Amino acid sequence: MTVLVTGGAGYIGSHTCVELLNQGKKVVVVDNLSNSSEKSLDRVREITGKELDFYQVDLLDKENLTEIFKKHEIESVIHFAGLKAVGESVEKPGLYYHNNVTGSIVLFEVMAEFGVKNIVFSSSATVYGDPASLPITEEFPLSQTNPYGTAKYFIEIILKDLQTADEDLNVAILRYFNPVGAHKSGKIGEDPIGTPNNLMPFISQVAVKKRPEVMVFGDDYDTPDGTGVRDYIHVVDLAKGHIKTLDHLESNPGFVVYNLGKGKGYSVLELIKAFEKASGVEIPYKVVGRRDGDIASSWADPAKAESELGWTAEMGLEEMCEDTWRWQSENPKGFN
Ligand code: NAD
Ligand code: WQD
Repeated sequence: MTVLVTGGAGYIGSHTCVELLNQGKKVVVVDNLSNSSEKSLDRVREITGKELDFYQVDLLDKENLTEIFKKHEIESVIHFAGLKAVGESVEKPGLYYHNNVTGSIVLFEVMAEFGVKNIVFSSSATVYGDPASLPITEEFPLSQTNPYGTAKYFIEIILKDLQTADEDLNVAILRYFNPVGAHKSGKIGEDPIGTPNNLMPFISQVAVKKRPEVMVFGDDYDTPDGTGVRDYIHVVDLAKGHIKTLDHLESNPGFVVYNLGKGKGYSVLELIKAFEKASGVEIPYKVVGRRDGDIASSWADPAKAESELGWTAEMGLEEMCEDTWRWQSENPKGFN
C-alpha cells in the first residue's frame, strides 16, 4: 500500500512517515520545504532503515503533482501540508487561503482524477474557537478566530461536500490538540524557523540558551494558576493515530471526525516545571500580557477515537518533555 504524505518533511509528517514505514507501508512525500528541511527525511530513513520517495513539489503546482500520481499507485493520502502560524495568517490571510485552501483543492482534484479514495486531513482544535465547556467533543459547534482556523474549517467543509457527492470517498478529519515531543531516537523533532510561536519549542530553546526567558502570556485566566491550559499530546502518539485512522478507512467509513488529544489539560507553568524536571535545566520566565486571540483552556474528549479507532495517547507529560529535551539538546540548531 502506497501512502502519499503531503507536508511529510515537517514536524508531524516526519514522525508519521516513521510509523508508516515501520508498518511496512510504501511512502511518497510531497513537500515544498517552505517550513522544513529535507534532512528530516534522511533522519526518517536512518531511524527506520527504509527508503521513501521524496518530491520537492508545491501542492499548487498541479502539473508536477499529477506526475507523482502517474508514477506511483497511491491508495491513500495523509494531508499535512499547509502553513501553520496563526499570527502570520492574520497579517497575510490571502497567503493562508491560497496556500492552504487552494493547495488542498488542487490535491483533491488530482486525487479525483486518479480515483484515490482515502484521505486523512490534519485539522486542528482551533476549529472549536473558544469552547463553551470542557472537555471538547467532536459535536461541539465550530467557530473561527483567525484565517488559519478559518482555512481549516473551509477545508473540512470542502471535504464534507466532496464526500457527499462521492460516497466511495473516505475522509477522516483529525482535529489535533497541542502536539509536542519528539521521536525517542532524538533524530527528528520540531525545528521551527525563526521565533517559535508555540510554547514547547520556546521552552526548549530557552533550555539550550538560544533564548533568555519564556514569556508567559497572561496569568489572569480563569484557570487553577491563572495561566492558559492546553491538552498536550506526544507527536509519536499523534503519528500512531494516523496509522489507526488509515486502517479504519479500509472499512469504508465515509466521512469521520476525530479529536486527537490526551484528554488532560496542563497550564503553562505546569509545562515549564515539568520541562525543568525532565531536563535538569532551570527555565527563567516572565509573565507578560495575554496574547491576542488566546483562550483560557482547551482539552479534548478523545473517547470517540478510543472506541472507533482503538487509539489512545499513551505518553504523559514527563515523556513529552524528556523527548523534546533529547531532540533539542542533541540538535541545538535543529536540522542545520
Ligand atoms: P510543519 O510546518 O512542520 O509541516 C507542514 C509541512 O507542509 C512543511 O514541511 C511545509 O514545508 C509543507 N508545506 C506547506 N505548504 C505547502 C505547499 N503548498 N506544498 C507543499 N508543501 C507545503 O507543521 P506541522 O506542525 O507538522 O503541522 C502539520 C499539519 O498539522 C499542518 O496542516 C498543521 O496546520 C496541522 N496542525 C498542526 C498543529 C501543531 O501545533 N503543530 C496543531 C494542529 C494542526
Ligand atoms: C499554548 C499555551 C499560550 C507561547 C496553537 C494554535 C493552534 C494549534 C496549536 C495549529 C497558551 C501560552 C505560548 C509562549 C505562552 N496549531 N504561551 N508563551 O495557542 O494552544 O495553539 O498551536 O493548528 O491552532 O493556535 O498553542 O503552544 O501557542 O500556546 O505563555 O511563548 O502557552 O498563551 O496558553 P495554542 P501554543
